[in-house]
Amino acid sequence: MELTIKKAGKLKPKPEDESKLGFGRLFTDHMFNMDYNPEKGWHNPRIEPYSSFDMDPATMVLHYGQAIFEGLKAYRTDKGDIQLFRPQENFHRANSSNRLLCIPQIDEHFALDALKELLRVEKDWIPSAPGTSLYIRPTIIATDVFLGVRASDTYRFFIILSPVGAYYPEGFNPVKIWVTVRHVRAVRGGIGEAKTPGNYAASLVAGEQAHKEGFTQVLWLDGVEQRYVEEVGSMNIFFYIDGELVTPALNGSILPGVTRDSVIALARMWDIPCTERRVAIEEIMNAQKDGKDIEVFGTGTAAVISPVGTIRFRDDTVILNDNKVGPITQKFYDALTDIQYGRVEDPLGWIE
Ligand code: COI
Repeated sequence: MELTIKKAGKLKPKPEDESKLGFGRLFTDHMFNMDYNPEKGWHNPRIEPYSSFDMDPATMVLHYGQAIFEGLKAYRTDKGDIQLFRPQENFHRANSSNRLLCIPQIDEHFALDALKELLRVEKDWIPSAPGTSLYIRPTIIATDVFLGVRASDTYRFFIILSPVGAYYPEGFNPVKIWVTVRHVRAVRGGIGEAKTPGNYAASLVAGEQAHKEGFTQVLWLDGVEQRYVEEVGSMNIFFYIDGELVTPALNGSILPGVTRDSVIALARMWDIPCTERRVAIEEIMNAQKDGKDIEVFGTGTAAVISPVGTIRFRDDTVILNDNKVGPITQKFYDALTDIQYGRVEDPLGWIE
């Protein structure tokens, strides 16, 4: 397949103050597009000016949410080089999500090469202010114009790019977490382990409630017993309890995060004991009362590491680490961002 490139005639102004980028509001001049139909398979890969889609109101994705997406970042190093962090993992996970959503497999190598080409075209959009990066959003949507419930025959794969700063307005500071007992995000046997819009839609009502109560994010419990911790907001979650790192085991309803996997790999490299298992919410709420040292943090591409300072579960509230960033949380944040921004040698072969 040959990738064609059509450049935009008029370029948008670049952001003037990179310290005010926020997350996901600005988009670059070009995007990648590719189509699928049963006769041709994936075809017509192209980089072209960023533009809106002309969509029939009966397009299937709008009705039944058959879609997957990914999130990764391109970083500008101090020397001005551009680097990606474990990008093949994202395209690999896209194909796992595709399987669960009945979307045809993509060629992961081709997709990564196309992304690299798009980044060459858009390299001037990759910001350089501290903590900024270019967020990359590959997405696949069902494009049949049809209202029956079945898998679509046709699809669009696109990649858009957005210069970003911190995901949370708090930046790298402890957030307040509310444990919901009224809603669940996903159940085993469902689509919780896929990166697909439905999981994020399912998280909104509890998220809004948490905001109203003055909390930043929701902590999700399992959908059966409502007892075991699954994720925090749109991130995976880690606990550092008395010298051991613990994270919920991937059980089918938890997203297999690339940052999650990277934290586990770093812990192994540093000989920090690390266990993937079920974690009951009582264990976390009681840890400090039981005299244990505990740090809690979320992991995800957007925020990288997000320290948790407060957890509220029913009528019980715990403040962790005096609401300060704990030393282990800081260590993982520093190590990951140092690798991502090329400030240190890449110890595990993660940079492309
Ligand atoms: C992440 O990268 O942590 C996310 O999944 C957030 C994204 C949906 C904005």
